[in-house]
Amino acid sequence: MTFSAFWIEKGDDGFTRSIVERSEDDLPDGDVLIDVHFSSLNYKDGLSATGNPGVTRKFPHTPGIDAAGVVVNSNVGEFSEGDEVVAFGFDLGMNTPGGFGQRICVPSGWVAAKPEGLTLRECMLLGTAGITAALCVDKLEAAGMTPDSGPVLVTGATGGVGSVAVALLSKLGYEVAAVTGKAKRHQFLKDLGVHTILSREDARSGSERPLLAETYGGVVDTVGGEILFNAVKSLRYGCSLAACGLVDSPAISATVLPFILRHVNLLGVDSVELPLEQKKAIWYKLGGDWKMDLSKLEEKLALDTLSDAIDRILAGQMVGRGVLDLNA
Ligand SMILES: NC(=O)c1ccc[n+]([C@@H]2O[C@H](COP(=O)([O-])OP(=O)(O)OC[C@H]3O[C@@H](n4cnc5c(N)ncnc54)[C@H](OP(=O)(O)O)[C@@H]3O)[C@@H](O)[C@H]2O)c1
Repeated sequence: MTFSAFWIEKGDDGFTRSIVERSEDDLPDGDVLIDVHFSSLNYKDGLSATGNPGVTRKFPHTPGIDAAGVVVNSNVGEFSEGDEVVAFGFDLGMNTPGGFGQRICVPSGWVAAKPEGLTLRECMLLGTAGITAALCVDKLEAAGMTPDSGPVLVTGATGGVGSVAVALLSKLGYEVAAVTGKAKRHQFLKDLGVHTILSREDARSGSERPLLAETYGGVVDTVGGEILFNAVKSLRYGCSLAACGLVDSPAISATVLPFILRHVNLLGVDSVELPLEQKKAIWYKLGGDWKMDLSKLEEKLALDTLSDAIDRILAGQMVGRGVLDLNA
């Protein structure tokens, strides 16, 4: 059986993108063969599509770190033909052909039953970005954050992780402050429930000072670099920042002062290698008590519009979440 897939090849002049027909026989051995209905575009897919060796080393390659679809066949008892499932994280879309193809074949440990309360499309509207945003909020709450802790800052706020974090925090009753570089998207953020908007310049100012005014009861940081550590310096006493991204910089220039004078915490969040059971717990929350109407975040993508969206996500220009319909 053949299927369509987005295809990255390494040539003498760099990496090229095309849509090709592939055979199921080309896929790696795995426990579960899935007919992918939807995928989503994450920043990491952009890195894979442009040959970032920290993400993908083997080319040609089909990216797509998220997939939602229907089981075609399975050699494990847990899944049967016709089951609706999601697959995400681990090596999917990195060096294993990913959700930008109509078929994937993966280990059962990468697959979860679709949560009740979410459609396959809604699962991909969340995708890895949504899971990551929810993990950040979950970890901050486990560290003691409540709506009484103070406003919560979200950086990279119009992006995939950022916009879901804003929507979730707002749903949970937090006052949300947002950092964005997109002056024309302030209304988008206000519609998601943002109370205060800062420019990236605002968020970087004061970086030469050891501490900044105690402002935030929590921070979800998707960008790293100077903005991250300024946010640490702006936490209220005993509060926490969840760090999950590096679109600005993976490096931080820091002192211990906020930690030893204000008792604050820097928390790390990884959704890739996190054990499946913990990911499932977050999925079921997102399909249950944390369910949100995220339709205003969605940009509909098809295989033939994906390349343009990849360029935009790498340039920091995507807004919300790109959902790829493999049958569009
Ligand atoms: N730890 C994990 O498991 C995990 C999982 C998923 C994603 N991530 C990471 O999280 C980050 C965000 O991913 P995403 O999929 O949400 O990407 P995205 O959709 O591209 O969002 C990133 C946003 O960051 C802002 N931004 C871009 N360049 C910037 C810069 N130079 N300085 C400051 N802000 C900048 C932009 O928002 P504004 O224009 O609104 O500022 C952009 O939309 C990435 O680094 C990704 O690798 C990590």
